[in-house]
This record gives sequence, structure tokens and C-alpha cells, in this order.
Amino acid sequence: SEADKGTYPHYMLKEIDDQPAVMRKLVQTYFNDAGEIDLDSDLLADLKAADRLYIIAAGTSYHAGLVGERLFERLAKIPTEAHVASEFAYNTPILSAKPFFIFLSQSGETADSREVLTNIGEAGYHSLTITNVQNSTLSREATYTMLLEAGPEIAVASTKAYTAQIAVEAIVAKALGEANGTDAASQFELANQLGLVANGIQALVDQKEVFEKIAQDNFVDQHDAFYIGRGIDYAVSLEASLKLKEITYIHSEGVAAGELKHGPIALIEAGTPVIGLITQSKTASLTRSNLAETAARGSHIMTIVSKSLANVHDDIILEDVDETLAPLLTIIPAQLISYYTSLLKGLDVDKPRNLAKSVTVQ
Ligand code: G6P
Repeated sequence: SEADKGTYPHYMLKEIDDQPAVMRKLVQTYFNDAGEIDLDSDLLADLKAADRLYIIAAGTSYHAGLVGERLFERLAKIPTEAHVASEFAYNTPILSAKPFFIFLSQSGETADSREVLTNIGEAGYHSLTITNVQNSTLSREATYTMLLEAGPEIAVASTKAYTAQIAVEAIVAKALGEANGTDAASQFELANQLGLVANGIQALVDQKEVFEKIAQDNFVDQHDAFYIGRGIDYAVSLEASLKLKEITYIHSEGVAAGELKHGPIALIEAGTPVIGLITQSKTASLTRSNLAETAARGSHIMTIVSKSLANVHDDIILEDVDETLAPLLTIIPAQLISYYTSLLKGLDVDKPRNLAKSVTVQ
């Protein structure tokens, strides 16, 4: 079956390797032969009528929502806020006049997200659930559903659902932007870009020995690790850090690079890994300065950098894609470093302690 891990030692490794195919599947699913996005016309009308988007999610899906904020604001020029479901449910912000809700959930069963969906449904608001599971609770209870087409995700640590969620957000954002007449959307060659992304992911998963060596040399013996970045790179640093803590039990934080000096830098010791995510031309040199500040306190710095921003000292080079889609590549090295660190520590990669794949209690 599709949920078989075949010759792979773990589901997580298989699911990391599935990602190029998932990107291509999403292009096939959501673009027609003319290269246009096929979006439900009622959904598009509801999105067009909205004055603000609220993305509701938990865990890794919330981190995909943080990337979505940037995608919707950039491509569709609509104010967008991502919220942690458990917070939004009981500390609801003042809503805009015409809100539209997007629920991101791999399983479609997360109780915290369902609580919000029930509340906003009772208030008469419309919603879209983006999920990997057809007929899941969040799918049935939302006004609209779009599927992630990622195939079953079995490992507790989410990988391909995260990248699929970002790609589907980009598809919806481009469709809405085109409907709103934004140049940013009409000039964005998304189907082509997702093809470049698929190739870029493939190039990374083809170098597994590089990430295994980094895990062995720089992570297995550490107690703390930091991923840093600015803007969309900061959003990815949160997910990169979550991957590490979930399956290696190493304390890890994703830090907005400019905030290091306001606290986290106090934790740097000799050899503490600090990984800089550098894919945005506007902030690349600032993040490099922040990395250097930690190196001066003894950290072991590593960089994950887009090719066009790279120099000979960089560690992991990503193929160039549009800057807004860089998260689809930046996260891959972090997934693989976490996988190998967990493996080398002899831990249960697919079923980490205390965690569940789907959390159906609030
Ligand atoms: C659990 C899983 C995470 C997942 C989160 C949200 O914590 O271990 O991998 O990101 O739930 O799940 P959902 O199915 O709503 O995306």
C-alpha cells in the first residue's frame, strides 16, 4: 500500500524523500492544461469578499501558516494572520469586518483547531480546510476543503505535510491575487517554480551522507541548538527547531536573528550549533552578522543558503527558487539533520516519546 515504508528503515525518511513527487502531484492536481489554477469558484468568491484571512493551526501546521501569512500578503495583498488554534479558541482577537478562515491540519482531527472551527461556524463565517485526509472532521465541518495530496504521513514528526501545506497556500494565494488583479500574482510562475522546487528538494535528498555527517559531528553530543533567520527564514527556523526537539530531545529554539542579542545569545557555549537560514536578499547580510556574533562567543555556526546569496564559506547550498518559496527547500536539510541525529542517538525516530500523530484532546 501507499502507507508501506518499503525498503526504508523509517517512515520519516521515506516521507522526506516523497517531497519532490508531492510537489509535482500538486501541480497536476491544481493546475489545468492551460496552466491556470483550478479553484472552486464559490471558494474564490468567498476569498475575494474577505478583508482579512485568519489561518488557524497547531504544531507544524501552524508553522506552515506562518509562511502562509507572507505568501498571502505578498501575492494577494490581503492582510493575513496565522494563529495557534488553542490560543485563538479562548483568546479570540477582535476580528475584521469580513474575515475568512483557513484551517491547516495534516490529520484533519486536531481538537484545538476543531474548537475554533465550531465557534466560527456558529458565528456564520465561512472556512477552508487544507488537509491530507479526505472526510476528516475538519474537512467535513468546513465550508470548503483542499487536499494536500501528500499520501499517508505516518511518522509523528511531520515533513511532507508541511511542504505540501506551503505549496497549497501558494496556489490559493496566487489564485486570489489574480482574481484581485495583483501584478505580484500574475507575474508569479508558480507551476514552473514548483517544478524548480521539486528538483531542488531532490538535489538535497540525494546528499544524505552530508547531513548524516553534520548530525554526527555537530549535533549528537549537544544539549542545545539554535536555528536563526529573519522574515520568512525566521518562520522556517521555528519548524526546523521543532523537528530537532521532537525526535532528538535536544533543546532547540528558532530565533529571529535580530533577537539573539536580547537573550538567547546568553546560552551560547563552546560548540553550541547555531544554524543560519539565509534565503532573503534583503536581510542576508544582517543574519550573517548575527551568526558572527554567536561565533565570537564560541558557537559552531553553519549556514543553509540560497545559491545566489552563497559564498565559499557556506555549508549547505540550496538551488535558487523564488524567495517566497525558499521555505520549501530550507526545511529539507533540517529534516534530514534531525532524522540522522535521532538515528545516531538510537532513538525511536518514527514514534518519539510523549508525542502523538494526531491530538484529539484540547
Ligand atoms: C501533533 C503532531 C504534529 C502536528 C500537530 C498538528 O502534535 O505530532 O506533527 O503538526 O499535531 O496536527 P495536524 O494534524 O492538525 O496538522
